[in-house]
Amino acid sequence: PAPARAADGGTPPVVVAHRGASGYAPENTLAAVDEAAALGIDWVENDVQRTKDGELVVLHDDSLARTTNVETVFPGRSPWKVKDFTAAEVARLDAGSWFGPAYAGVRVPTLEQFVRHVERHDQKLLLELKSPELYPGIEQETLKVLSNEGWLDRAHLSDRLVVQSFSADSVRTVHELKPGVKTGVIGAPPVSDLPAYAEFADQINPRHTSLSGAYVAAVQAFRGPHDKPLEVLTWTVDDAAAARRVAGFGVDGIISNKPDVVRDAVDGW
Ligand code: G3P
Ligand code: CA
Repeated sequence: PAPARAADGGTPPVVVAHRGASGYAPENTLAAVDEAAALGIDWVENDVQRTKDGELVVLHDDSLARTTNVETVFPGRSPWKVKDFTAAEVARLDAGSWFGPAYAGVRVPTLEQFVRHVERHDQKLLLELKSPELYPGIEQETLKVLSNEGWLDRAHLSDRLVVQSFSADSVRTVHELKPGVKTGVIGAPPVSDLPAYAEFADQINPRHTSLSGAYVAAVQAFRGPHDKPLEVLTWTVDDAAAARRVAGFGVDGIISNKPDVVRDAVDGW
């Protein structure tokens, strides 16, 4: 099919800073949110995990090893799973030095701290429940944090919040608990399964490498639980050529570690 956005002169895709602007600052930290804000990017993606004592924290891996100094601070606690550490222990870790000395001392944020920071910058949040099968009840707990922070009011629900996951079951649970929250399923389910997904998901968010214009159009032909066309946000696109390619497919959003590169590539699209 024709590249929808180019042909109809519509708006360019929304650009989302993946784990914050994680090409330029340590992923999933407040510094990465600041960097996105400094670049003028208003959507931020993050990943949520849970500590041993039930604190929700923002981290991509289910282990602390790659993005913190946990192996130094807590030797002998291999494999350093988030779920085996308390919030107080996680708060002691340096989540910035691995990225560069300028970020020494940057912490793993709690979800509460992260949401407050996004709010402070007047940004919007694409929140990923990263490994919900490891954390029974995390959907309800996440909604509670969002509610406590005022993120389930009408203004936030209408255009500032989406909760997504690779786990369709988890996404369905979020929808059932709080039908007003927009949701997304990460991946590219077969078109024949889309009617079932459209019952509880507003977005289908595939990896960009396997994307086609035909698939994007097929997804957008369905209407989601809020009676709007299903949206497609694709990840993780970090160069201008790939950004223009997926923009040509008519995607609604592009998730990027270098959101300024993508924004500049699709500006005026
Ligand atoms: O936003 C979707 C994307 O973040 C999924 O992949 O591994 O970066 O969480 P991952
Ligand atoms: Ca993610």
